[in-house]
Amino acid sequence: MTKNALVLFESMTLKRKDLLDISSLSHDEIIYIFEAAKIFKKVFTETNKKFSFLSGRTVCMLFIEPSTRTRLSFEIAAKRLSADVISVAPSTSSLVKGESLIDTVKTLEAMKTGFIVMRHPVSLAPDFLSRNCEAHVINGGDGNHAHPTQALLDGFSVYERTGSLKGLKVAIVGDIKHSRVARSGIELFTKMGSEVVLCGPPTLLPDDFSLYGIEMTFDLDSILPKLDVVNMLRIQLERQKGSLFPSIREYNKYFSLTKDRLKKCRKDVIVMHPGPINRGIEIDDFVADCENAIIEEQVTNGIAVRMAVFSLLCGKTLEDINKEK
Ligand code: CP
Repeated sequence: MTKNALVLFESMTLKRKDLLDISSLSHDEIIYIFEAAKIFKKVFTETNKKFSFLSGRTVCMLFIEPSTRTRLSFEIAAKRLSADVISVAPSTSSLVKGESLIDTVKTLEAMKTGFIVMRHPVSLAPDFLSRNCEAHVINGGDGNHAHPTQALLDGFSVYERTGSLKGLKVAIVGDIKHSRVARSGIELFTKMGSEVVLCGPPTLLPDDFSLYGIEMTFDLDSILPKLDVVNMLRIQLERQKGSLFPSIREYNKYFSLTKDRLKKCRKDVIVMHPGPINRGIEIDDFVADCENAIIEEQVTNGIAVRMAVFSLLCGKTLEDINKEK
């Protein structure tokens, strides 16, 4: 990058109210989020410092579906930026009395909530919200549609090791059909120049992706030696209607990343999993805890990436972040 381009890049902001998906982000905006996350990660992991960017602003966690990583990670990120954080728990809110989502959100806005982070079992619920409220809306995972900050943290976790995602061969393995992580991951890695291959049983590999020229295979063993990154997905039994494979034992036999299968991979292959893990189903204990696995690093990176998303949505530049670090 030339010096002038670098100066321009440093003062660039994300010109958007919301973060709903990966498809609306450009290649440069994604790099920008990665570069901001790098700075936040260093500060977050090495010091107790808080940034002032969300001081006086309220962030609401509106999680209508269970979550450990995403909810806590957004919460920590918001607090590290000095926000006040509140939560709506669906089972103890007026949603159970029949209040509509829009009325709940209007109530949050009347309380001057500036950011709503939403997880919802229905695809596109955050898009609906973003059109009906003035607060910034961040998608924390909607149905099987999108999980943009998971894709950003996955991409960042590889980027910080390799310096670029261009030309990497990335496999996403398992329950692609029900996975918002897979959909957002495919968009992010292809946008950044990686070659994505999807692998899983035929019943969990929807045809739609072949339309976009994405390679698909049922044979995990054949692709392992070619991979730079293997991202293992959780079998989402809670979203499956009916039996989509004969048994867990059968699934494990053909699609689990086991110690023996790891031996077929390159020595420096990066093993990822978005969590929560079903140990012994899609990945075995040895692989989940081996040196190639960056599963816990992904969790740490989630905080840095979410700090970057909050900051950039409220108009902060890399220059601002560097000044305050
Ligand atoms: N990866 C992920 O979204 O995990 P949670 O469901 O725990 O948020």
